[in-house]
Amino acid sequence: MSAGPRHGGSPGPSYQDYLDRDSREVPACLREQSPPTFDDAPLDAARYTSQAFFDREVARLWPRVWQMACREEDIPEVGDVHVYDIVGRSLLVTRTAPERIRAYHNVCLHRGRKLCDTSGHYRQFRCGFHGFTWDLDGRIARLPCRWDFTHLDDDALTLPEAQVASWGGFVFVNMDPAAPPLDAYLGVLRAHFSVWRLEERYKAAHVAKRIRCNWKVAQEAFMESFHVIATHPQILGVIADANAQYDIYGEHVNRNLAAFAAPSPHLGHPPPNEGDIARDMLAMYGHPEALSALRQAFPEADARTLVGELNRRALSRADGHDYSQVSDAELLDALVYNVFPNFAPWGGVAPNIVYRWRPDGRDVNACVMEVMFLRPVPAGAPRPAPARLRWLEDDAPWASAPELPILGPVIDQDMGNMAAVQEGLIASANGKVQLASYQESRIRHFHRTLDRYLADA
Ligand code: FES
Ligand SMILES: [Fe+2]
Repeated sequence: MSAGPRHGGSPGPSYQDYLDRDSREVPACLREQSPPTFDDAPLDAARYTSQAFFDREVARLWPRVWQMACREEDIPEVGDVHVYDIVGRSLLVTRTAPERIRAYHNVCLHRGRKLCDTSGHYRQFRCGFHGFTWDLDGRIARLPCRWDFTHLDDDALTLPEAQVASWGGFVFVNMDPAAPPLDAYLGVLRAHFSVWRLEERYKAAHVAKRIRCNWKVAQEAFMESFHVIATHPQILGVIADANAQYDIYGEHVNRNLAAFAAPSPHLGHPPPNEGDIARDMLAMYGHPEALSALRQAFPEADARTLVGELNRRALSRADGHDYSQVSDAELLDALVYNVFPNFAPWGGVAPNIVYRWRPDGRDVNACVMEVMFLRPVPAGAPRPAPARLRWLEDDAPWASAPELPILGPVIDQDMGNMAAVQEGLIASANGKVQLASYQESRIRHFHRTLDRYLADA
């Protein structure tokens, strides 16, 4: 094996070593390394538990960052509206023309009733209190007893807007009119995802659930592979966890690259043989029977080549696209990007997992997590309608959502920590959180950027 470039100090092959052995050429973005360079200071537990800290996020973070509101495909027709709520703010993300999406603050300019209670299709926005009515372009259309409002001209009655921009088929909003453009905010993301083109995929699954912890506690449980050893020990045979790669890009983007169909360094020497790794990986997929035919066809292949080929063929069968040149890495691995503050799209192909975490209203101790699957639009077929959002009851497991095969039970293991972490942070004797230098560098990156938003005037 090549002594490929590595960072972090784990035993075992580096992620780049696995890419060296890929059966196909891997995208250039996966060959990049942008290692962290942070100090090792602890975090204050109060960042997750203090109402005052949360209130600073409400005042200084959420009104100023680009945040994913919905998919473009969620509002395909002119007049379609997605109500996007965040920490008490509300926006009407509205398709006002076939190629134009705008976001209005969801507040009547009369006495402040919320204009729309639900997402849906609207010809106009009519307030349910006194009937003030706006056109989709935000201009006032009707005002009962106009003679009583001669002190207000139409400009004063135009709905205030947030900034709107799209990337990857996602609609982003920013309530700060002075915020820099989305492209600048996303940094390397557009270039990295140019091979994966999420705008050409459709939302095949969308599941949400409330969690009894701060939104950052939930998010950070998905920012490192370190927890696999204790939280998901059943997959140690098929994931290179401690030797995953972590990269930091500018202020808003970071990523974690973890190889699947590769063993954890925690299993020691000798590592499991390739046949066992492939068998365990196929068992996880629910297709253990596929192994013998694959081994006959590729008797010399390692586990990543075998399972990569299985995925390559299964995807082609499912959607009619040609995956013959797609790398094993893109077909197998966890290529998890995070965009500050709360959005995590996976690179690679089929399905692309997408996570989002938001505070549950203005509750410092509760949040909502959403999981989406994006899949390629089948070749030669019209774009399928996006999946409807499934809200899980608070006590329902993610495994009860059949549209999240394999992933649901794994997320349920993560959920087993969430409320207990929140309670522990509240109960902490020293009020400190200690982080690993390398494997938890994305968490440190997040908090460094968060501090900048909270500190700026
Ligand atoms: S509050 Fe909306 S019309 Fe009066
Ligand atoms: Fe996990």
